[in-house]
Amino acid sequence: MQKLLNDLIEKHREITKQGKVASYIPELEKANSEDLGIYVLDNDGNEYFAGDYNVKFTVQSISKVVALMLAILDNGEEYVFSKVGMDPSGDPFNSFRKLETSSRRKPYNPMINAGAIVVSSMIKGEDAKHKFNRLLEFFKKITEDTSLELNPKVYLSESETGNKNRAMGYYLKAEGIISGNVEDALEVYFKQCSIDVTAKTIAKLGLFLANEGRLSNGEQVVSERVTRIVKTLMVTCGMYDNSGEFAVRVGLPSKSGVGGGIVSVVPHKMGIGIYSPSLDQKGNPIAGISLLEELCSELKCRIF
Ligand code: DON
Repeated sequence: MQKLLNDLIEKHREITKQGKVASYIPELEKANSEDLGIYVLDNDGNEYFAGDYNVKFTVQSISKVVALMLAILDNGEEYVFSKVGMDPSGDPFNSFRKLETSSRRKPYNPMINAGAIVVSSMIKGEDAKHKFNRLLEFFKKITEDTSLELNPKVYLSESETGNKNRAMGYYLKAEGIISGNVEDALEVYFKQCSIDVTAKTIAKLGLFLANEGRLSNGEQVVSERVTRIVKTLMVTCGMYDNSGEFAVRVGLPSKSGVGGGIVSVVPHKMGIGIYSPSLDQKGNPIAGISLLEELCSELKCRIF
């Protein structure tokens, strides 16, 4: 396995040249576009890693998976999905054109930004700071990584440039889909995206989902049912308007982030964390996807 990962990193690093690091948030542009790293954790306690597995990057949209679990724990499944749907939108992650045109009057799913901002608005707490701290503590617990913290520079950069997200938040508030303070919801959303992680943190999140919400000591933190919902939404919506092609090529529940991360879940077996900041046109890590495709083919671990 270790040799396989070393070989795959070497081979797929070339593909990083076909994409670009995210530039719409100025702080993200500082990433090294040729970086590529992987961390794999399995249920027998084995850990394998290769390439730039140790580089810190912000979790970005992978946080939508964490926030969704906490929002369901806080409010129950029925309430959460009365405000956000469970279907792919077929649109880019930051699009909100269907919010006004679709008869459903709620964001299509919790993985696109509109849905994720609604989810963040549902996290319980006295104010934005308290809500974000609860999310950070929950993230630390399920990844068994107490070192997680906010990257203040990325947060500022996100908040200063997040006009489209802000517009979406205010629209959702006007439509009554967000109740409560919209600035608080946006602050939680921008902050959750700006948590620093490594490929290992992301692999831990993957292993938690692979084990249906149980920690390594057996403690059940999130129910099997909730982790099943989350993994299903990762398959159908986790890579946005590329989720179908990704399911064919890779075939694992996964979620990407514009910081370059991908979390992938091999049910009952493994958590995989990727760091690959060079992105394709849909905002997904270009070399990370090709690496995962070959890895899943070698390990025969696709779910389909
Ligand atoms: O909302 C945004 O623009 C970002 N902070 C997160 C987006 C993201 O990671 C999209 N994923 N590929």
